[in-house]
Amino acid sequence: MFGSGRRVKKWQFVQLFATCFLLSLMVFWGPPLDDRFMSHLKSYSYRYLINSYSFVNESLSLRHSLNGIASYPYLINHEEKCKDQAVLLLLFVKTSPKNRNRRDAIRRTWGNDGYARAQLQANIKTLFALGSPSDPLPSERDRRQRELFLEDQEYNDLIQQNFTDTFYNLTLKLLLQFRWTNTYCPHAKFVMSADDDIFIHMPNLIEYLRSLEQIGVQDFWVGRVHRGSPPVRDKSSKYYVPYEMYQWPSYPDYTAGAAYVISGDVAAKVYEASQTLNSSLYIDDVFMGLCANKMKIVPQHHVFFSGEGKAPYHPCIYEKMITSHGHLQDLQDLWEAATNPEVKKISQGFFGQMYCRMVKIRLLCKIKYVDTYPCRAAFY
Ligand SMILES: *[C@@H]1O[C@H](CO)[C@@H](O)[C@H](O)[C@H]1NC(C)=O
Ligand SMILES: *[C@@H]1O[C@H](CO)[C@@H](O)[C@H](O)[C@H]1NC(C)=O
Ligand SMILES: *[C@@H]1O[C@H](CO)[C@@H](O)[C@H](O)[C@H]1NC(C)=O
Ligand SMILES: *[C@@H]1O[C@H](CO)[C@@H](O)[C@H](O)[C@H]1NC(C)=O
Repeated sequence: MFGSGRRVKKWQFVQLFATCFLLSLMVFWGPPLDDRFMSHLKSYSYRYLINSYSFVNESLSLRHSLNGIASYPYLINHEEKCKDQAVLLLLFVKTSPKNRNRRDAIRRTWGNDGYARAQLQANIKTLFALGSPSDPLPSERDRRQRELFLEDQEYNDLIQQNFTDTFYNLTLKLLLQFRWTNTYCPHAKFVMSADDDIFIHMPNLIEYLRSLEQIGVQDFWVGRVHRGSPPVRDKSSKYYVPYEMYQWPSYPDYTAGAAYVISGDVAAKVYEASQTLNSSLYIDDVFMGLCANKMKIVPQHHVFFSGEGKAPYHPCIYEKMITSHGHLQDLQDLWEAATNPEVKKISQGFFGQMYCRMVKIRLLCKIKYVDTYPCRAAFY
């Protein structure tokens, strides 16, 4: 996946040039284009031709008080989780108070630290990050909070701060993760952040992290990278961002918040940057991108981190996959199928490899765009 840098750049340039040429033909002679299209055109041009985000530091820096994250006390905490031990991976799962079923499914499958210890000899700490219940009635909120205390007594894996757990407070949840890491687990080799509807192929992930550990990566950030995404200006969208909040045509590169991994040093740097930037931008993965950009950390794309879509169900895919999105009912079945030791045998030998190559081409290289692994994943 780390191809020759120069060749990639040259190819990208040709691609870009061709795209610009076609686009300009369309803009001047084609039918009228909609706003969405124009905003993408502007944002790609900005990202690929200018690609300077120095305004992040200049315009989004806080002039006075710090972000309020420290003012939200912990309601549930486990200060000792990482103490006096080497931690390969600190894994934060972003969850909400009401998603008990999802947490239980994760505890039985990829979020089971005991499995990682016994089967993979890896020290992993899985923690659930959440805010306080957002139910409308105070009595409901109290009941749910009591349930959370009981749940935590059983599993000891919740980290909860006293901010209301809502979509528009997602950036606070991001800050929770970085603040906690910085305070209680700064020595973790890698830190991962994941949604609670994701599937993680833990054996493949651990193998990948070990290979990275061996070469001693730093400034490392990997996931599914969004390049040149424009802010959404459509008021009816969940991701609408007003002009006052972010006035530029394009966001810095960032990885989809559904699942990404950073090295321990990046966690410290992003935390530092987050203390100096205005965190009112509530799209958490974009805010992460702003912080990283300020610290000059560039995300890397990994073909087996999925987009919004689910990965195809097939052993040849299981053999390589790292994450897949949108798994609820099928989590347990997928976990069992994908971590079955037989999976590794399917692509053994010349014919096995040929077979899996063909299967992956058939599953991933579709004419109609499907948001799963890209076609080139078939060739890794
Ligand atoms: C960011 O801005 C602050 C002042 O707002 C300045 O002190 C600092 O040097 C700037 N950092 C970079 C990397 O430009
Ligand atoms: C949490 O916040 C609520 C109001 O937002 C407050 O009533 C409550 O006392 C806070 N709890 C703690 C432990 O600080
Ligand atoms: C975020 O949490 C704070 C603290 O609980 C709360 O006052 C605020 O209303 C929440 N914001 C949103 C948009 O839900
Ligand atoms: C952060 O930005 C918002 C606009 O998005 C602004 O209203 C707010 O005052 C800023 N906060 C600080 C502390 O600079």
